[in-house]
Amino acid sequence: MSEEPVVIFKSVSKIYQMGEVSIPALNNVSLSIPKRRFSMVLGPSGSGKTTLLNLIGCLDQPTNGTIEICGEKIAAISDDMMSDFRAQNIGFIFQNFNLIPVLTAFENVEYPLTLLGMSPSIRREKSLSILESVGLKDHARHRPNQLSGGQKQRVAIARALVKGPMLVLADEPTANLDSKTGASIIDLMYTIQEQYGATFVFSTHDPQLISHAQDVFSIRDGELIEHHTERG
Ligand SMILES: Nc1ncnc2c1ncn2[C@@H]1O[C@H](COP(=O)(O)OP(=O)(O)OP(=O)(O)O)[C@@H](O)[C@H]1O
Ligand SMILES: [Mg+2]
Repeated sequence: MSEEPVVIFKSVSKIYQMGEVSIPALNNVSLSIPKRRFSMVLGPSGSGKTTLLNLIGCLDQPTNGTIEICGEKIAAISDDMMSDFRAQNIGFIFQNFNLIPVLTAFENVEYPLTLLGMSPSIRREKSLSILESVGLKDHARHRPNQLSGGQKQRVAIARALVKGPMLVLADEPTANLDSKTGASIIDLMYTIQEQYGATFVFSTHDPQLISHAQDVFSIRDGELIEHHTERG
């Protein structure tokens, strides 16, 4: 862990405002997400995992405290610059896969590259190569409803990684999978993380997945209660 962290939180709090009611979701969280590591955020339902990942992914701003990403304070960055930064540098993987139903596996993976304005031949090469890395080259023409849950999540992993992001965030990527498929998806993400050298953060409520992670951040009721290194 000699490298600079990718993301640094300093006394970050997030309070959601619903009319008159204030809902504290994160309370005074300070942490550093280590670069090129496979980190896990562990906590029960309602503990603040999604809130934390949304802040790490710059999808939301904190109520208090500061967040630095790659050494820059995000409060100082304009919304437009932030969207460009996200499009280029951050890949997202979701609990419910979020694939586009009318597109094939190949087209779902290719889509972020189209948004980045890449040429068709480069898009094709990159998309097929990453589909091969997740073991789905033979399923490139399948639509999401012709794939199993685990296969859908592998397409989503390929889509998140195809643009070569420095940071990949996965919010409960195994929640809709049985435990065996879930564990294999986490292991696939780990293999790919090593291969591509990205920084990876996934969240889960399942303590059984701890042994699959390198760094573990445990949260409870919006507070970081423990950070430990599980493996090197
Ligand atoms: N947009 C919102 N508006 C108001 N309150 C919210 C909002 N999003 C989350 N909360 C509240 O903030 C707290 C943390 O929610 P969060 O979704 O981050 O938890 P979580 O750990 O991801 O839970 P789960 O495992 O169920 O997905 C909860 O009390 C939740 O009800
Ligand atoms: Mg959540």
